[in-house]
Amino acid sequence: MDKQELRDAAHDAPRHKVLFVCLGNICRSPAAHGVLQAIVDAEGDSADWLIDSAGTGDYHTGDLPDQRMRIHARRRGYDLTHRARQVREADFDDFDLIVPMDASNERNLRRLAPTPEAEAKIVPMARWIGLASRYDHVPDPYYEGAQGFELVLDLLEDGCRRLYDELSAEKQRL
Ligand code: 4NP
Repeated sequence: MDKQELRDAAHDAPRHKVLFVCLGNICRSPAAHGVLQAIVDAEGDSADWLIDSAGTGDYHTGDLPDQRMRIHARRRGYDLTHRARQVREADFDDFDLIVPMDASNERNLRRLAPTPEAEAKIVPMARWIGLASRYDHVPDPYYEGAQGFELVLDLLEDGCRRLYDELSAEKQRL
């Protein structure tokens, strides 16, 4: 690339690169991805954002989100069409914020992080979830009923709103 191309690439590159991570990548992380994308589509500049999701496990690679997650999300206006994939080491290069849903996902990511700088990109979703919810993680809804999926969406709507506001404010300070 010549200097002009480098400048163009830097100009076009998304400012915020966020990867949500759960275990299967069919319930919580694709929902987080859909919720944050909807906020960006409504209020932000989608060219500023790269949003994706992945699972620490590979059991569901290629699958659409769990049908129960899709139904509950659809009722709130989110169409979840992500195809599940496993998290990979290169994600630590491609994203600047890697957001696990619970402590088990976080431990697995810390094991995978190739460098301390990469590990520093891991910030649990709970960082943005209001204390009033009394949750310090986003609970796995896979073996739960409808309430489990509704709880996931409540926590993610709360958390993604704060995450979006915080990152957007950072951008304005630059
Ligand atoms: P997720 O939920 O991690 O939120 O996608 C799960 C999906 C699948 C399984 C566990 C959790 N599973 O055991 O297959």
